[in-house]
Amino acid sequence: MSTATRLAHAARDRVEHPAQALTRWSLGQALPSTAIAARARRGDLQGQVIRATHDSQELPLELFARIREAGPFYRGHFALVTAHHAVVREVLSSPDVQAGIGLQDDRPIARLLGWAGRSAPMGPLSEPSLLVTEPPDHTRMRKLVTRVFTVRAVEGLRARTEQVAEELLDDLVREAPRTRRGGPVDLVDAYAAALPVTVICEILGVPLEERDVVRRFGTLAAPSLDLGLPLVRFRQVERTLREFDAWLRDHIEQVRRSPGQDLLSQLVAVRDDDGARLSDAELISTAGLVLAAGFETTVNLIGNATALLAEHPEQRAALVAGEVPWLRAVDEALRFDPPVLLTGRTAVRDTEIAGVPIRKGRVVTALLAAANRDPLVFTDPDTFDVRRENAGDHLAFSGGRHYCLGAALARMEGEVALRTLHERFGSLTLAPGARRRDTRILRGWARLPVELG
Ligand code: HEM
Repeated sequence: MSTATRLAHAARDRVEHPAQALTRWSLGQALPSTAIAARARRGDLQGQVIRATHDSQELPLELFARIREAGPFYRGHFALVTAHHAVVREVLSSPDVQAGIGLQDDRPIARLLGWAGRSAPMGPLSEPSLLVTEPPDHTRMRKLVTRVFTVRAVEGLRARTEQVAEELLDDLVREAPRTRRGGPVDLVDAYAAALPVTVICEILGVPLEERDVVRRFGTLAAPSLDLGLPLVRFRQVERTLREFDAWLRDHIEQVRRSPGQDLLSQLVAVRDDDGARLSDAELISTAGLVLAAGFETTVNLIGNATALLAEHPEQRAALVAGEVPWLRAVDEALRFDPPVLLTGRTAVRDTEIAGVPIRKGRVVTALLAAANRDPLVFTDPDTFDVRRENAGDHLAFSGGRHYCLGAALARMEGEVALRTLHERFGSLTLAPGARRRDTRILRGWARLPVELG
C-alpha cells in the first residue's frame, strides 16, 4: 500500500469523539465571538472592527482612522492592532512575531483546545500549512514551491491565461443568448472565478472534469479563516475540509501513478526522491493551500476591480485607450478593496516594534486593508485612482517571509482578466442584484450581475 493510500485510510479511520467538534466550535468560535461582541459594546475598537465586518462588507474606514490615531499600536483587549503602513511592514518582517494566533500557554483551556484540535480536519490555518509554519521548516517548504511562481515562470503562463480568458468570454456570449441583447450575466460565476480556477488547476494537474468539484470545495471552505461561525456553518466547513483532504489524497495518488509536467508532479517527485525534504502532511497541506489560495483570492481581485472600474468609467476608458497600464488598475484595486482584510501574528519572545514593547505571547493584528489607506503613504487614500503612481506599495499581499507566494501569478491573472474583458466589453455596466460574499477575512463579490453592452 502506498504512503498516500495508507494516510488516506488513517484519516478515514481516525475516530472523533463527538465532544471534540463541539469543543472546537465552542472555544474556537462561539466563545471568542461572544467575548469580542461584549468588548465591542464596551468600546474596544478591535472588537468593533470585527463586528463591523460581520454587519457589512464595507470597510470600516472610520474605525481604521481611530485605531491609527491611537499610535503605532492600538491596545485592544485581544491584541495589539496596527493600521499604519510602516508598522504593519515591520510586524510582518519581524522574526520575533510569528504566524498564527495560537494559545501558547498551558492553561486548562489551551489544553482542552489542544485535545479538541487533534481530530480537526486539515485547513489553511492548521500545521503544517505554510501560512502558520516558521523557519527553518517554512524556508525549506517554501523553497520547493517558489520556483513555479517566480515572475519569469508566471510570464510563461501568460499566453495560456489569455487563451482561457478569451474562451470564457466566448462561452459567456455563446451560452447566454440573452447577453447579446444586453441581459445581465453573473460575472463572478462565468469569469472572475472560472479564470483563476482553470489556471491553478492546470498548474497543479487537476483534470478538467474535476474543476467544478475543486471550486465547490474552495467556496464552502473559505469561511474557515473566519471567527464566529454558527455551529451549522462550522460543521459544513469542517465537512468540506475533510472531503477536500480525501479528494486531494486521491489526486496525489493518481499523480504519483502517472506524473505530468505540473507542479504537483514535481512536488510528489521531490517527496518520493528524498523523504526527508517534504513529509506527506506537508505535501498535502502545500498542494491544498496553493490550490485554494490560487483562486479564492484572485476571484475577489477580478470581481472587486471590475466593479470599481464600472463605477469609474472615465478611468476605465483611459485604461482601454492605453493611457494607463492595466497593472496599475490591478494594484489600485488591490489597495482600495483588498481581497484579504487582515492577518495575525503572535510574539514568540519579548520584543519591541515601532518603539512599543511587546510581551511574549501577545497577539498582534495587522490590518492590511487599513495600511492601504494610510495617508502618510497614499495621497487622498479614500479615492480610487488608477493613475496613482505608488499604487503598487499596497500591502494586500502581506509582507516579510509570508509574502504571498502567488502574488506574481495573481497580478498577471488580474491584468489579463481585466484587459481581455474590457477590450471586448468596454462599456460594461453593473446590473441590480450584486451580492458580496459572506466571508469576513476574504472580501469580494459572490454575485456581480453585469450588462455586457
Ligand atoms: C489577489 C490575489 C491574492 C491575494 C490578495 C493574496 C493574499 C495573500 C496574503 C495576504 C498572504 C499572507 C497572509 C499572511 O501574511 O498571514 C498570502 C499568502 C499566500 N498566498 Fe496568496 N494571495 C493571492 C493569490 C494567491 C495565488 C494565486 C496563490 C497561488 C499560488 C497564492 C498562494 C499563497 C500561498 C501559498 C501563501 C502562503 C505563503 C507563506 O505563508 O509563506 N496566493 N496571500
